[in-house]
Amino acid sequence: MAAESEKPQGLSPTDPCSYSRPDECVVTQIDLDLDVDFKTSTLKGQVHLTLKKKKEGIDHVLLDTREVTVKKVTDQANGQELSFTLGEHDSNFGSKLDVRLPSTAERSCVVSVEYETSPQCSALQWLRKEQTAGKRQPYLFSQCQAIHCRSMIPCQDTPAVKCAYSAKISAPREVTVLMSALRLGSDPHPTDSSKLIHKFEQKVPIASYLIAIVSGDIESRDIGPRSKVWSEKEMVDMAAFEFEETEHMLISAEALMGPYVWGQYDLLVLPPSFPYGGMENPCLTFVTPTLLAGDKSLANVVAHEIAHSWTGNLVTNSNFEHFWLNEGHTVFVERKIAGRLHGGEPMRHFTGIGGWKSLQYGVVDVLKNGPYTKLIPDLCGVDPDDAFSVVPYEKGFALLMYLEKLVGGPEVFEPFLRAYIERFQGDSIVTDQWKEFLFSYFKDKVDSGVFDEVEWDKWFFGQGMPPVKPDYDNSLAVPCADLCQRWVKATEDDYSLFKAEDMTALSTAQKREFLSLLLLEEPFSAEKIQAMESVYNLNAVKNSEIRFSWLRMCIRAQCEDCIPRALEFVTEQGRMKFVRPIYRDLYNWEKSRQRAIDNLQANREQMHNTTAKLVATKDLHLKN
Ligand code: BES
Ligand code: ZN
Repeated sequence: MAAESEKPQGLSPTDPCSYSRPDECVVTQIDLDLDVDFKTSTLKGQVHLTLKKKKEGIDHVLLDTREVTVKKVTDQANGQELSFTLGEHDSNFGSKLDVRLPSTAERSCVVSVEYETSPQCSALQWLRKEQTAGKRQPYLFSQCQAIHCRSMIPCQDTPAVKCAYSAKISAPREVTVLMSALRLGSDPHPTDSSKLIHKFEQKVPIASYLIAIVSGDIESRDIGPRSKVWSEKEMVDMAAFEFEETEHMLISAEALMGPYVWGQYDLLVLPPSFPYGGMENPCLTFVTPTLLAGDKSLANVVAHEIAHSWTGNLVTNSNFEHFWLNEGHTVFVERKIAGRLHGGEPMRHFTGIGGWKSLQYGVVDVLKNGPYTKLIPDLCGVDPDDAFSVVPYEKGFALLMYLEKLVGGPEVFEPFLRAYIERFQGDSIVTDQWKEFLFSYFKDKVDSGVFDEVEWDKWFFGQGMPPVKPDYDNSLAVPCADLCQRWVKATEDDYSLFKAEDMTALSTAQKREFLSLLLLEEPFSAEKIQAMESVYNLNAVKNSEIRFSWLRMCIRAQCEDCIPRALEFVTEQGRMKFVRPIYRDLYNWEKSRQRAIDNLQANREQMHNTTAKLVATKDLHLKN
């Protein structure tokens, strides 16, 4: 009990970001019955929670909520009302819903919560039809990771709890509804002929952050035997082309990690305000439209989300302090898949080098070697969105890359990965369990002292860069570094020596790397930027990764003409990986600071809640 009193008041002893107590009473099944109301921008209806008591004498259940209106709680067995109290609102974690359980309840019972979400619901973005590509119908999408599910559904919003779910969602006939589940078709609404009821089922137990919903005027194209791509019709053919390789990636992932258990693997291309590159919602990965570059060069996002079907969705971090278990393993598998499909080990090592560079930039320049540079950060009193960074991805990847070499290479490490999935699938785990399994799997190596050199404490809890840099094959990185250094050293007299072919000789991945390397150098002069533009014509590039790095180069060189282009880029799409650094750069330059603030204020209404809040408070240092 001593440890518990050190945690902030009322939060779970095993998850600093949840009020729930799954050790006392746990949700084993969620059944949703909701109406999508575009007029009020709310979801309303009921959630039926099947509960199982884990201890004697438990007479209440604690749920997470955030800005939801709870109308009534009933015992499904007899329709009797159950008393409840909604705790004080906490800006990070929302409010605790404490429900008194039926006194008659044996070990299990079903509690029905009638509720309504708020129009400001942090999980949901409601778009007016004017904000969509086709402008025909309004659009709704969710983003529950890390702890937004509670704003959409009263639930035990901790990844320590996994359950199956089903849903009946009523919505206007004109829109399609999809969820992170298998589609079971639709029925006419019994009382409202303008609506249909869409039915879904997710039989594999999942964490709450993987519940997802989308509703809008969307269509699909088949892209493989178990895959469709969904988007507004304006983009669907382009999307089908861009994601053509999906089935090959799935097959390659299965070869590494075992059977794909989720049945369908569909992709949904969201509107531009979607805040992430991709989100691994089961059966239906969500992706940003910024991937539609027409050259399939950003396929790593799909490989990444596919990899989550095992690392993350089957074996899940027990709370978000152990997020690296999800993301580090997923990046590791993503790069294995990408290597197997294109470019082999040299390509895998090349992307690893890029990852190390972005880790360096994130750790040193952005996070200033602070507490969030720990692989396992302390999230007591912290909203995981505020702690989000490259660290769990790339420090996690670097650790796995280092261990892979240490135990004898891919032939030895890949079977370990598969065994890890086999051992923990269906579970939620913490880092100690991963490490214990590593030690038991490689018992002979532990005995022969192979792991003695690993500074585990520094890897897990040390701030700053990792204690060891893994060995990388840098054959593909050399041309990028060479071209970068030629530009760094170039004076005005040398500009004429550069040719368009310098760039066309590089693969898209190498172009990206070249620009990332330039960004790590001292800012260029505006004249040098001008010279680069005239040989390489970078202002015209559509690929969003390249556009992003190039814009940052220009801002740092204080090229005034780039300010409008930068503002356009952060306004026309909302992927935080692009939007936040550009806003930070614009803030750091006096000339553009006020224009960045004005741009945010002018467009805030159109933005995703999470993006707007993080840009305003963290990047532009505004009060809210
Ligand atoms: N699960 C993450 C996205 C996420 C993380 C959402 C934390 C909310 C909170 C997803 O799998 C991801 O990592 N996306 C990356 C893709 C990239 C690493 C290829 C992204 O969005 O950039
Ligand atoms: Zn991920």
